[in-house]
Amino acid sequence: EKHNFVTIADITKEKILYMIDMAHEFEKHPNRELLKGKVVATLFFEPSTRTRLSFETAANRLGARVIGFADPKVTSGTKGETLKDTIMMVANYADVIVMRHYIEGAAQYASEVSPVPIVNAGDGAHQHPSQCMLDLYSIYKTQGTLEGLNIYLVGDLKYGRTVHSLIMAMRHFSPTFHFVAPKELAMPAEYKLYCKEHGIKYEEHTEFTEDTIADADILYMTRVQKERFSDLMEYERVKNVYILRNDMLAKAKPNMKILHPLPRVNEINYDVDSNPHAYYIQQAGNGLYAREAIFCDVLGISLDEVKNDKTII
Ligand code: CP
Repeated sequence: EKHNFVTIADITKEKILYMIDMAHEFEKHPNRELLKGKVVATLFFEPSTRTRLSFETAANRLGARVIGFADPKVTSGTKGETLKDTIMMVANYADVIVMRHYIEGAAQYASEVSPVPIVNAGDGAHQHPSQCMLDLYSIYKTQGTLEGLNIYLVGDLKYGRTVHSLIMAMRHFSPTFHFVAPKELAMPAEYKLYCKEHGIKYEEHTEFTEDTIADADILYMTRVQKERFSDLMEYERVKNVYILRNDMLAKAKPNMKILHPLPRVNEINYDVDSNPHAYYIQQAGNGLYAREAIFCDVLGISLDEVKNDKTII
């Protein structure tokens, strides 16, 4: 049976911990030949640096070959080919398709028409499940647990798909979320309802000061997503709403870590980069291991096989 990686909504606690274990194995030994002879296609209908390159690195480090595009303007989509036809064609060539698309639900749709597994590399403002896996791995690595954490989500909570996925995944681990956003970028009602339905505690804040974040275990900053605004004047009004400075970290808990899915625009000052609380560059590095685990998951390679793997290079 084909196994996709499209949403984090139905992921179990056991599966999250299993994937974290698998990512940990890949961090110990990233170079293997587990995917030798396979072809991975990366179809990016929206810009990306980290997600595409770390998926391609993961495929390369596991011995697969990579095809694909980073710019849809060079594809036959410009001649009118539909997403369905594109997916069915690429499935002739590849064993797994990694796709980023600007339409919410595009990955789900692709998974319904594709005979090979689809990995969602981000669909509009909806979900970013592979980012979520690397976020969970980063939180686990730095905090030693996913249980009972105080997690501050800061910035564009309306359009930021990474925070939407993180809320869903963390439902298993009794977090307290703090949604820090101006009213224009507040957490959408559907995700607040999701929290209520799943017994997830949350508070909402509009202030962002050193006192606001003093009890944070994780401070998850986000970029204001310019590309999702229909009114650019509104983007101009809110684009610099919160900027994290080094001096705002004076009261932070010793093991508090700052995450950011990146790219950043202006929301974390460069003087924060050398602060021991900063973790966003390492977080992006963890993407390689999380995505190696995702490839194994969709291609039916188990944790036991990874642990007993004799193809380590
Ligand atoms: N975090 C993330 O999705 O980054 P890219 O847009 O560079 O892939």
